[in-house]
Amino acid sequence: MKKVEPAKKSLNVKHAIRDLVPIAEEVEASGKEVLYLNIGDPIVYDFRTPEHLWEAMNSNRRKCEGYANAIGAASTRQAVADYAKSMGANGVTKNDAIIFVGGSEAIILSLQALMNQGENILVPRPGYSVYNGELTFLECKHNEYDLNEENKWMADIDSMRKQINAKTRGIVIINPNNPTGSVLTRKNLQGIIDLAGEHDLPVFSDETYDKITYDDAEFISAASVAKDVPLISLGSISKTYLAPGFRGGWLYKQDPSNALDDYFAALHRLCRLRLTNVAPTQPTIEAALNGPQDHIKEMVTKLQKRRDLTYKRLNEIEGIYCDKPRGAFYAFPKIEFPVESDREFVLDLLREKGVLVVYGSGFGQKEGTKHFRVVFLPPEEILNSAFDKIEELIKEKYLK
Ligand SMILES: Cc1ncc(COP(=O)(O)O)c(C=O)c1O
Repeated sequence: MKKVEPAKKSLNVKHAIRDLVPIAEEVEASGKEVLYLNIGDPIVYDFRTPEHLWEAMNSNRRKCEGYANAIGAASTRQAVADYAKSMGANGVTKNDAIIFVGGSEAIILSLQALMNQGENILVPRPGYSVYNGELTFLECKHNEYDLNEENKWMADIDSMRKQINAKTRGIVIINPNNPTGSVLTRKNLQGIIDLAGEHDLPVFSDETYDKITYDDAEFISAASVAKDVPLISLGSISKTYLAPGFRGGWLYKQDPSNALDDYFAALHRLCRLRLTNVAPTQPTIEAALNGPQDHIKEMVTKLQKRRDLTYKRLNEIEGIYCDKPRGAFYAFPKIEFPVESDREFVLDLLREKGVLVVYGSGFGQKEGTKHFRVVFLPPEEILNSAFDKIEELIKEKYLK
């Protein structure tokens, strides 16, 4: 039979975080143990979804047999509006909130509702690859602005300004950032919002890791700074509420001049097109946002030790430099030893030492630089073993 051809626009859609998994499975099938430091899923390691989220799902299960509201139950959207207020947003009601099947669907549909073929949106480099993948699929450009490694990965406002042109539709911020673990200062955030205001562009602020910060790093929501600049803020229960399998995400708009009305109507249309939200997830989002928050402190305390270990061990390796992550659970070390590409190093590390990390080029990075992303969710013994192997490989192969 004739082969069925996929859509041409699907051919270049890449998501480096997942693309390496089949190769890791081959390595495992050959009998080698693989240490997975590639996926930001806390449940793979020693974290559990808080009990009150399970209770919310279990006690409401009989009410969840039918379709759920396509834009989210009113009570769930109210929980998002209350959360927005607690984050410093102004005037956000349940009508400004939409519930999605995880933050990923919020990203995908919010871009679909905005972008026409050939247009562009500014995204950080390094940044989260779902933005770039979806923009590729939409035959749009992701105009990358640099985060400055020498300055705690703050956004380079001049680099941002250069990326704006007549076809630019908005600016994406990821704060705290995946993959760098950086947290924007108020000054930097203000600079980005001012630039958006100057060019009449809406800001999309991905705040998936809002409550995971270390030391004195302070998370400042874009809503608390944006004032009259139209803002879409995205969140999820996957990370802060340790429930990536539940598939609960949201966005809310803060829009004092009603600039986003037509855009929001388009988003509603796309939500209705996919009929429904995941019904049993709705009460769990409410439980997460309205319920006890104790697990967050416990999680951050546990992660802080792993962050400290990761930062110390990586910087002790000759040929590696790593800025200190201040949020999320990722480190993005720089490769300073000689190697053709970061992808080559990551594949060598997987095949020769059984350690899976993700190559920096999968997230975007400044021209001429090479990095890899480490997830520091695993317990200390796994991290130590992985760092031993990374050190061995660099010594044996690249620095001899
Ligand atoms: C920056 C960022 N945004 C959004 C997401 C989407 O997460 P989910 O779809 O599980 O809510 C992730 C997941 O890793 C992320 O890192």
